[in-house]
Formats: sequence, structure tokens, C-alpha cells
Amino acid sequence: MERCTIQAVVVVIAAVWLGAAQATVYQDCGSTADIHEFSLSYCEVPPCIVHRPSNYDVNITFTPTSAASKLETIIIATISGVDFPWPGPEGCSQLENDVCPLQIGHKYKYSAFMPVLVEYPAISVVVQWKLKDENDVIHFCAMFPITIV
Ligand SMILES: *[C@@H]1O[C@H](CO)[C@@H](O)[C@H](O)[C@H]1NC(C)=O
Repeated sequence: MERCTIQAVVVVIAAVWLGAAQATVYQDCGSTADIHEFSLSYCEVPPCIVHRPSNYDVNITFTPTSAASKLETIIIATISGVDFPWPGPEGCSQLENDVCPLQIGHKYKYSAFMPVLVEYPAISVVVQWKLKDENDVIHFCAMFPITIV
């Protein structure tokens, strides 16, 4: 009985810990916004190991330094120096409890999914995740390596 209780507690703690949002280390590739946090599920220190098939959360909290009425998600996977565009969601609809236009000095949380499809090859790629507005301003740009398994 006691042993069962302890095991149950350990399982609960592990589940909470795994589910907890942790910031991911990334290389900035020219964000104009102030970036408070970037997190990709289950990845604190890249390369991020991503399993097929699954969806990973990509959360970004940022404060724009210029206004914008539209936001586009641009995802680029670089494989051996060749860039492959990946389908990304429309950006404004990913803002949590907020809408466009983006206002200077307001803190936003962007929350989207990175889909890893079963047909993807098991390779290592460098991902660039960008949020670009209608004036081609790159509010956010992160580069991080992932290993698809
Ligand atoms: C991303 O944000 C969503 C919604 O707020 C949250 O449920 C999820 O745990 C977060 N994930 C990460 C990796 O930060």
C-alpha cells in the first residue's frame, strides 16, 4: 500500500514536470521585438528530439517595437544547406487572448503547434521560426536544431 502510494506520487510528479513549460535555448536571427520567452515542448537545450508523428507547442512571449496589422508564421527547415519551407499557421490567430493589430509595448503570447508528420524523414535539421508582418518586419526569428526520430 505504502509502496503503491509512493509510486503514484512519483508518477504524478514526473507528469507535472514533463508537462511544465520550460524555456528553450535558441539562437536569435534578428528579432525586432523584445523576446521574453521561447519554448518548444520537451526541449530545454537543443538539439530538440522530436518524435513522428506528434505536435509540439511553440510558445513565444514578446513585446513588439513596431505596430503591425498582420502576422505571418514562416518556418524554414534547413537540410544540408538547402532551405525547405514548412507550412506555418497565420500568426494573429495564434495570439492568446489577444488580437491584431500588434501594438508597441504590449506583451503578447503566441502559441502554435509544430506538426511533425509521420512521412518526415528521420534526419537532423535546423529550423527557423519567424513572425513577419505586412511590412516585412521580422518581429521574431529563432533558429534551433531538431533531430527527427
Ligand atoms: C504553451 O502554451 C500553452 C497555452 O498557454 C500551454 O498549455 C503549454 O504548456 C505551453 N507549452 C510550452 C512548451 O511552453
